[in-house]
Amino acid sequence: MYCVYPIFYLNLFHYESAEDTAYSVYTIVVTQLAKTYGMTNNRETPIEISKEEFKKIGYQLIDTISNFIDTIEDKPVTPGESLQQLQKLLGNASLPEKGKPAEEILSKTAELLLNHSLLNGHPKFLGYITSSAAPIGALADLLAAAVNPNVGAQILSPIATEIEKQTVKWLAEFIGVAPNYGGILVSGGNMANFTAFFAAIATKAPKNFKEDGLGNSSKKLLVYCSKTTHTWVEKAAILSGLGSKSIRWIQTDDDNKMDNDVLEHTIKDDLKEGHQPIMVIGTAGDVSTGVVDNLKAVATICKTYDLWFHIDGAYGIPAAVIPALKTLFEGIKEADSIALDPHKWLYSPLEAGCTLVRNPKHLTDTYSSHPEYYNFSNNDEDAYQNYYEFGLQNSRGFRALKVWLSLQQVGRNGYVKMISEDIELAELLFELAKNHSELEAVTQNLSITTLRYVPLNYLQNSNNKEAYLNTLNEALLNELQQGGEVFLSNAIVKEKYCLRGCIVNFRTSKKDIAEIIEIIVKEGEKIHQKLQEK
Ligand SMILES: Cc1ncc(COP(=O)(O)O)c(C=O)c1O
Repeated sequence: MYCVYPIFYLNLFHYESAEDTAYSVYTIVVTQLAKTYGMTNNRETPIEISKEEFKKIGYQLIDTISNFIDTIEDKPVTPGESLQQLQKLLGNASLPEKGKPAEEILSKTAELLLNHSLLNGHPKFLGYITSSAAPIGALADLLAAAVNPNVGAQILSPIATEIEKQTVKWLAEFIGVAPNYGGILVSGGNMANFTAFFAAIATKAPKNFKEDGLGNSSKKLLVYCSKTTHTWVEKAAILSGLGSKSIRWIQTDDDNKMDNDVLEHTIKDDLKEGHQPIMVIGTAGDVSTGVVDNLKAVATICKTYDLWFHIDGAYGIPAAVIPALKTLFEGIKEADSIALDPHKWLYSPLEAGCTLVRNPKHLTDTYSSHPEYYNFSNNDEDAYQNYYEFGLQNSRGFRALKVWLSLQQVGRNGYVKMISEDIELAELLFELAKNHSELEAVTQNLSITTLRYVPLNYLQNSNNKEAYLNTLNEALLNELQQGGEVFLSNAIVKEKYCLRGCIVNFRTSKKDIAEIIEIIVKEGEKIHQKLQEK
């Protein structure tokens, strides 16, 4: 593998031209230097893996992963191990001084992860909003890491930047907004919403805010959103310097949508008070129950009062691809910005979020800077797209690749099929709960269903009934989350503690849904029994 520069012996008398002589002298000098400093034409490092070894351990890993995916439904959703058990698996050794063979550590680590993880790729995983991961995404991540383009600047990632541009364009087409929407891939829903939020502030704040900050603004800048809005909005308000009191939490109507009459009244009152409303956030699929706000009416209000219209569609907006749901999503074409998450309902492996903006210049106006140490433009400057100028990150990985590949593998039709089926399964869960004497079906929107266990004839007339049912269902959820048969999460709906199933899972079947109902009832009975005995 290593080869010291060959040593040449020079006999000057054998060379005729001055050029030859000069070349030979040069060779002697280089050779002497190579000898003196032990130079080789190959550097030995502990991190490189030879081609043969890479192939061997790579194939082994792919074999292990293929088996894992193929048998995932036979495993428990979670081993439900305690923290002590998990910590014991790792031990408490100090940082290793010496390295170990890659093959050894990789196979041990595969065993560790595949046998001690919560499996969100399991057909009975319906928790939070984490999807089963498209297998092509795992291969895409391997390829992306192998090439390792830095998608912060086009010169550092020539083809990867073009692929990200096309991914953003396809995502815009997918949800049905104009293809001139631009945007950027980010790590997930929080970052997609932050990226848009800061762009809205930069666009709507007083002109000198970049220099003077928001503290010097004479008017209080205000943001409007429904009470169901995901927690990202508080982080964004605090960290942007607006402060959490800048959020006007608008109450919801009977359908749990933002009450747009209250929204408009609040904006009017704030204007009268001399405040400056800047943005309204509509939600397309709220995190707890999947409700889509009346976005068309929000768009009209934003137009009337010249406000930035942002849609948090992190979970639900991919359902806009379904022709039958077009009316539910009316208004999205008016949005100034949209957050959507391929790692939710487009089944990308974590992490993949996306910010779309109607006018991409709003992103560059917010995020662009041109330090002297970057040589990232070319002669054809307009054509170069440097993604560090579109968002918060500087060096960026190639997360677009997995999204781009699954959009091609599945196509629009494939997504229409999978998303529609997920919704049908959520409807089935609701129907089965509704028809079961020990279950109460509470809500169903998009692919989220909430329900609760209600023991037969229990405390029909008691004042304590609701409090008891909340305690019972919370204990039931904790049991189910540890038990390994199914993984659900929770939602509080009108003060009822509910079990919540969110189906963004292309592996879940009707049979799974029927079995989940039986598991809930079986465990519900046991927990009720236990609580009664106390
Ligand atoms: C509506 C909504 N917005 C934002 C987020 C945050 O997304 P992430 O966890 O990818 O940051 C979620 C997560 O569930 C969500 O449902």
